Amino acid sequence: MKILGVDTGIKKYPIYIDNSFSMIAEAFEKAGLKDRKMCIVTDSNVAPLYAENIKELLKDVSKDISVCTFPAGENSKDLDTISDFYRFFVEKHLDRKSVLIALGGGVTGDMCGFAAATYMRGIPFVQIPTTLLSQVDSSVGGKTGVDFMGNKNMVGAFYQPELVFINTATLSTLPYREVAAGLAESVKHGYIQDKTYLDFFMDNKAAIKALDDSAIAEVVYGSCKIKSYVVSKDERESGLREILNFGHTFGHAVETLSDFNMLHGECVAVGMLAALYLSMKRGAVSQKDIDEAKALLEYFELPVYIEGFDPNKIYAQMFNDKKTKNGVINITALRAMGDAYTEKGCTEKEIKDAIEYIIK
Ligand SMILES: NC(=O)c1ccc[n+]([C@@H]2O[C@H](COP(=O)([O-])OP(=O)(O)OC[C@H]3O[C@@H](n4cnc5c(N)ncnc54)[C@H](O)[C@@H]3O)[C@@H](O)[C@H]2O)c1
Ligand SMILES: [Zn+2]
Repeated sequence: MKILGVDTGIKKYPIYIDNSFSMIAEAFEKAGLKDRKMCIVTDSNVAPLYAENIKELLKDVSKDISVCTFPAGENSKDLDTISDFYRFFVEKHLDRKSVLIALGGGVTGDMCGFAAATYMRGIPFVQIPTTLLSQVDSSVGGKTGVDFMGNKNMVGAFYQPELVFINTATLSTLPYREVAAGLAESVKHGYIQDKTYLDFFMDNKAAIKALDDSAIAEVVYGSCKIKSYVVSKDERESGLREILNFGHTFGHAVETLSDFNMLHGECVAVGMLAALYLSMKRGAVSQKDIDEAKALLEYFELPVYIEGFDPNKIYAQMFNDKKTKNGVINITALRAMGDAYTEKGCTEKEIKDAIEYIIK
């Protein structure tokens, strides 16, 4: 087991990374979460796989653990589901000392975290992320929330958990397409912050794809370390945190124009190639770097180009991105491999050339 300490300046908490749930009760006790009412918030896919097991393992930590299940999928990520949660919590008499447990992917974590941030003005919660995306990305950083009127994550709060417990063995039940989407975000962490971590992907891609225990533990640990470092320097996203947006300004536009038929991580994969191309044109990275990125993403069965998209529409869509301020498209680019920054001065031609690069 590996343990990573996160210090946001406001709150300190541990991230446990293991290949089983056997240490979970100890982790709760260490965090001071004993003899309290608890509620596992989970979705309809994850509940039958893991909820009873967690309840059983925590039976000496709490005698009163309920399970609140919602229909799996991004369509549930709204205020109606949050209202259902509140109703469930009231029926179960959860109080300010009670603990919510987010068991599932990013949708579960974002919603359970938001419910925890707002129920009775804030109660403790624990993250048990079960998708690779949630293990390497969404469970770290404290962003919680729901979609509203078709806008992703429009209503939410920054709220940190008491602890994060990652059991990488849960990935064995996750469809590979979802695993790959998570790998795109973890590869991103290498590009923006840590060339050694990126090299680990290049050198161990077969073991990673096969979900080999020690390889996947390295991936999860490395990503959590990079993401928690970046967010701890900038909890409220005023500066450094923007580098986490690498590949995302292009990616979000593709995601929207695909009508969300492509997974977020898949769009980030092609988006990163566009950002790498733009960085290459500025002399920051080489053609070989791009070829290697493409080969790696392709190996993980992630898309490396898109078909049937109008480049002008992608460009226009980029102006709607949350990170586009005062009509200026902000692109996270690389200064070098493992060193990202936000470029506010890209020309229309530069951006359009990068879009053309990923369109077949
Ligand atoms: N808070 C943040 O910083 C942050 C960052 C990135 C993404 N997000 C959010 O995360 C969400 C996407 O997360 P996601 O990709 O984990 O989606 P998700 O939670 O919908 O999970 C994907 C699918 O996998 C299923 N699943 C989860 N774990 C499983 C397991 N172990 N075995 C089998 N099936 C399993 C789920 O039921 C779901 O069908 C989006 O809503 C996005 O906005 C938040
Ligand atoms: Zn992302």
